[in-house]
Amino acid sequence: MFQTAFQTRKRRRPDVTSTQCHEEVKFRDVTLYLVEKRMGKSRRNFLTNLARSKGFLVENVLSVHVTHIVSEGNAPQELWNWLEEQNLREPHAKHVLNISWFTESMSAGQPVPVEMRHYILNPALEQRSCPCPSAKPMSTVSPYACQRRTTLENHNKIFTDALEVLAESFEVNGNQGSSLAFRRAASVLKSLPVVLKRPEDTQHLPGLGEYSNAIIEDIIECGASSKAQEILNDERYRTLKLFNSVFGVGPKTAGSWYYRGLRSFEQVLTEPTITLNRMQTAGFMFYEDISKPVSRSEADALKIIVEEAVTSVNSSATVTITGGFRRAKEFGHDVDFIIRTAEPGQEDGLLPMVIDRFKSQSILLYSDFQESTFDLRQRPNHQFEAMDNFQKCFLILKLKRDQVTDIRDGDEVRDRGQCRDWRAVRVDLVAPPIERYAFALLGWTGSALFGRDLRRFARLERGKLLDNHALYDKATNTFLPADTEEDIFAHLGLEYIEPWQRNA
Ligand code: CTP
Ligand code: MN
Ligand code: MN
Repeated sequence: MFQTAFQTRKRRRPDVTSTQCHEEVKFRDVTLYLVEKRMGKSRRNFLTNLARSKGFLVENVLSVHVTHIVSEGNAPQELWNWLEEQNLREPHAKHVLNISWFTESMSAGQPVPVEMRHYILNPALEQRSCPCPSAKPMSTVSPYACQRRTTLENHNKIFTDALEVLAESFEVNGNQGSSLAFRRAASVLKSLPVVLKRPEDTQHLPGLGEYSNAIIEDIIECGASSKAQEILNDERYRTLKLFNSVFGVGPKTAGSWYYRGLRSFEQVLTEPTITLNRMQTAGFMFYEDISKPVSRSEADALKIIVEEAVTSVNSSATVTITGGFRRAKEFGHDVDFIIRTAEPGQEDGLLPMVIDRFKSQSILLYSDFQESTFDLRQRPNHQFEAMDNFQKCFLILKLKRDQVTDIRDGDEVRDRGQCRDWRAVRVDLVAPPIERYAFALLGWTGSALFGRDLRRFARLERGKLLDNHALYDKATNTFLPADTEEDIFAHLGLEYIEPWQRNA
């Protein structure tokens, strides 16, 4: 089919180029095609000549080279039906645009950046949230994060920052439901390849409620969200967030301290009725270090340390960075590692020996080891918040300054260099059984919202239960085995999403 389209284009090429070659082509990245349907032959000729006179390349046939399809007067469904009849290889890989984009480009004398409002959506796809990954944003934004490709390039940071302030405000106040709604809204915007310019641009996006829309509108109109600003200035929010930032302190503890009138770390630490648990004690002791982001070079240095310790215990085991760094983040609040053993059962007793190794190297500052409670027969858990049952540990390790190569100016290790030659870093390790490694890797890579939506998608769209341990088919009452993350996506009938595209 591709071959045929190509040959057709080639045969027709002479008369297209003969028309075009009167004019110099200025914009090589853009190839236009004007849909004649409804526009009419004479208007199409007029617009074609106009565009060519301004240096645009306009094709007479809808070839594979066309990048921008412009339509006027067609109802979206009618247009998309027609496009489908043209047997284009990848209609969704092209910009399907309203005449407004064309008109604006003509008056600008160059192609203007495509914005949401320029797109003509495919109504059929919107209704069923097509998983087609190459599809253009407006027509195909899925309500499931696991069907969106979300890189770290966020075109809508101004909006997502504000929405995340709201999410955080609900979170520190213990309202997880509302927090999730704002996180979802922010996540949808993070996946968009273009910046929102008008309030109407959000019309066809899933997961944006009235409240999120009001925030977006506020920002579009005033340049900032007054609601988010109000929260940022709120004493209660600031105090709860401060308390929550301590390792071992969650919304409950933070709230109770706040209600007792405490407003600062000093007040907490001098309040005689407060007893800190072991984790919180370590949290305060190393607060300055572990509240500072960990850089990628520091994560790489830690990987060498962890690898050395793991292979000293089991020479065939391997260590992979997971969590945010696997999603290509430059900074993290900790470094997450997953350990893969060569044989089933080899993970037994592994982490305690690794922790001992750190201890003997005098780099262990804090350790919370959790023994495995995992059972191969157990079905995936319905609850999203449930932690997995694998053997794992939450650590604070000493990272020596001279172990970090490629220290950039401003890196924490160097800044503190004068007084001590190390910094404290939060490190998480997990050691799942080899049979379930792929599930653990997928779960620990995150993002948290991506994982949550994978599970939600599995249950609601596929009748399957997924968690960090397994995938279970409710229809056949069987476990679906997987050696790789790709296997899991395939079981779920999902396009594979790379780790760096999982920053939902
Ligand atoms: N996770 C999990 N089960 C746990 C602990 C963590 O599934 N017992 C998942 C989280 O949902 C997250 C990932 O592991 O997707 C990493 O957790 P975390 O380190 O908290 O988040 P990151 O995405 O790595 O963010 P950061 O860069 O700030 O560390
Ligand atoms: Mn992490
Ligand atoms: Mn972690």
